[in-house]
Amino acid sequence: MAFNLKNRDFLKELDFTTQEMTYLLDLSRDLKRAAYSGTEQPTMKGKTVALIFEKTSTRTRCAFEVAAYQQGAHVTYLDPNSSQLGHKESAADTARVLSRMYDAIEFRGSAHSTVEELAEFADVPVYNGLTDEWHPTQMLADFLTMLEHGRGKKIDEIAYTYMGDARSNMGNSLLVMGAIMGSDVRICSPKALWPSQEVQDAAMARAEESGARIMLTEDPDEALPGADFVITDVWVSMGEPKEVWNERVALLKPYQVNQAAMDKTGNKHVKFMHCLPAFHDTKTKVGADIGEKTGMTEGLEVTNDVFESPYNIAFDEAENRLHTIKAIMVATLGD
Ligand code: CP
Ligand code: NVA
Repeated sequence: MAFNLKNRDFLKELDFTTQEMTYLLDLSRDLKRAAYSGTEQPTMKGKTVALIFEKTSTRTRCAFEVAAYQQGAHVTYLDPNSSQLGHKESAADTARVLSRMYDAIEFRGSAHSTVEELAEFADVPVYNGLTDEWHPTQMLADFLTMLEHGRGKKIDEIAYTYMGDARSNMGNSLLVMGAIMGSDVRICSPKALWPSQEVQDAAMARAEESGARIMLTEDPDEALPGADFVITDVWVSMGEPKEVWNERVALLKPYQVNQAAMDKTGNKHVKFMHCLPAFHDTKTKVGADIGEKTGMTEGLEVTNDVFESPYNIAFDEAENRLHTIKAIMVATLGD
C-alpha cells in the first residue's frame, strides 16, 4: 500500500488509520537504526519549524529540536511569554502569520480546540505536542517502546494496563491508540476518572475494526493479570489547580504502581512505563510537598522501588520520543 503523509497535520490518533500509524512506527524504527549506524540522511535541509509551548516541557521540546537539527532543519522556540498567542492574537491569526515563515508548527497547550484552530488556518503541517485531551506524539514512542520490549509480540498481541488518571491526555490517548492498533487495552481507574463516553465510544468503534480487546475497570485484580506492560502517569496534570491533589490522592492511592501491582500481572517479563516526568520520590518540590502532606514518601503514582528497578523502561520510552517525532516530521515534511 502506498502512503503519502506529506503536509498532514498530526493532531490526534483518531485522525489516522491503523496502516498510517504502522507506517509511522516502521519509519521511526528505520530512523532510529539509521541514527545508530551513522547512516541518517537529512531530508529537511533548510526547513523551519515553529515550536509553541504554552505549557512546560523537557522531552517533547528537546525531541522536536534535536530531530529537526539531525534532519537539517531549524527551529524557533516560543514559550508562553514570548509570543502574542492567547494574549493579543488568536490561534487563527497566529497560524496565518507563522505559515508565511515556517514549514511546520508544533503546539503544546491546554485546549485541544486551539491546536485544531491552528491547523485549520495554517497552510503548513501542525503537530500536537500535548493538549489536555490528547498526547499523540507520546503514543508513537510508547508503541515503539512496547514493540522493542515485547519479546517478539506483534502490536495486536501486546497487553497493557494503564493505572491512574484515565480521563486526561495519557488515558485518552492510550485507550484510543490501543484500539486503533488492535491491542489488549486495560484502563484501570475509579469510574470518576474514566475517559468521557465520547472517547470510549470512539475507541470502541476503532476496536471493532481492528480487533482490539478493550477493558475499562475499577478493579486492578481484573486489569493486571497477563499484562505485558503496566503504564501510569502523574495524578495531577499540568494546568490543574494544586487544590485537586488531596482528592486525587484519595481516589488514586489504590491504583499506585508498586511491587504488589507488578506481581499481580503474573508475568515475570512485565515492564513498567511512564511518559515522565514521574513522582517516584521526594527529590522534586511537588514530590516533597505532597509526600509531606500525605505521608506518601516512597512515591505517588509509582513507588521508587519499581521506578528504580529493571521493570522500568521509561528512559527507553523517553529516547523514543526523538525517533518517533523525527518520523512524524520526515513523513509530513521531508524531501
Ligand atoms: N512526556 C512528555 O511529554 O514529557 P515533557 O512534558 O517533558 O515534554
Ligand atoms: N498528563 C500529563 C502528561 C505529561 C507529559 C500532563 O498533562 O501533565
